[in-house]
Amino acid sequence: MNKYDDIAQYYDLLMESGYYDYPKESQSLDSILKGRKKLLEIGVGTGLLAEKLLELDSSYEITGIDFSPAMLERGKARLGNRVKVVEGNVLSMELQESFDGIYSHGG
Ligand SMILES: C[S@@+](CC[C@H](N)C(=O)[O-])C[C@H]1O[C@@H](n2cnc3c(N)ncnc32)[C@H](O)[C@@H]1O
Repeated sequence: MNKYDDIAQYYDLLMESGYYDYPKESQSLDSILKGRKKLLEIGVGTGLLAEKLLELDSSYEITGIDFSPAMLERGKARLGNRVKVVEGNVLSMELQESFDGIYSHGG
């Protein structure tokens, strides 16, 4: 179990209490990514940023990787089939596909 498994149940509450401004940060990311649709989020966690990005543009095709099962469980519940979720460590991942853009937020 890693430290993110330990805090997963409190993560959304902590982050949405002002630690990050997800609407603002998703807008910044959206403006940087313009034209790039197939994305990889490293450390997708509970999916807070991916969800906000999809609210701005539902045509994004996002894959999210994360090594915390507890964070990913919440991410899957939030994002459903709107995001492809992969459990794994980014340091040893072997994704057999390419992306238009790769980003990480807090990871
Ligand atoms: C601070 S959270 C950010 C989650 C989400 N991106 C957000 O903005 O709310 C960092 C996430 O990165 C994941 N993470 C950290 N190191 C990782 C690694 N080496 N491989 C995969 N995921 C990792 C953690 O499990 C955690 O869910």
